Amino acid sequence: MTRRVAILISGGGSNMVRLVESMTGDHPARPVLVLSNDPEAGGLGRAEAMGVAAAAVDHRPFGKDRAAFEARLVERLEAVQPDILCLAGFMRILTPDFIARYKGRMLNIHPSLLPKYRGLNTHARALAAGDAEHGCTVHEVTADLDDGPILGQARVPVLPGDDAESLAARVLAQEHRLYPAVLRRFAAGERTRIDLV
Ligand code: GRF
Repeated sequence: MTRRVAILISGGGSNMVRLVESMTGDHPARPVLVLSNDPEAGGLGRAEAMGVAAAAVDHRPFGKDRAAFEARLVERLEAVQPDILCLAGFMRILTPDFIARYKGRMLNIHPSLLPKYRGLNTHARALAAGDAEHGCTVHEVTADLDDGPILGQARVPVLPGDDAESLAARVLAQEHRLYPAVLRRFAAGERTRIDLV
C-alpha cells in the first residue's frame, strides 16, 4: 500500500524538494501535501512546481494559542489523510497533543549529531566546542524536543577555517541524502537506524 506523506516546512524547503523527488517509481510512498506556517515560504512554490498540493496556515494570527493554530493544521492534514508526516525545516514547536496524534509516524531532520546540540544554532555550537565532526539526524518526533528515536545520521568533518555558514552548507548536503534514505525505509516499515558514510 502506498504511504501518503505530508511535509511541513517553514522556509525554502530544500529538504522537502529532495523528499518529493525521491518518492517515485517503486518507492513505497508518495507526497500528498506540503504545508507551511508561513504563506511566504519559498518551498510552497517549489512544491506546486513539482505538482504537489501546497498550503499555508499562517501561525501569526493565532499568537500564543498554539492549539488553535494546530487545529487548522490538522484540518488541512486530515483532508489528505497522511500516513506519515515529515518535518523539514519546520520551525514551530508542536504541542504534545499534536505529537500524540501523529505519534510513531512523524519524522524530523535536525542539523546535529543528536543527542548533541538539541535546539537552535547547532553549527555555531559545534564550532565553539571545537568538535572535529558534526552532522545531521533524522528522528521520530516525540514530546521531548529533538529527542525521539534516531532513525539515521550522517557525519561531516569540521574543517579549518569553517564558519557556521560553511559548516551548515556541508551538513545540508548530507541532510539531502539522509532524509530520503530514511523516509524510504520508514515507509517500508523499517525502523533500524542507518548511518550514512
Ligand atoms: C536545515 O538546516 C534543516 O536542518 C533545518 O532547517 C534548515 C532548512 O531546511 N531543520 P530546508 O532547506 O527548509 O529544508
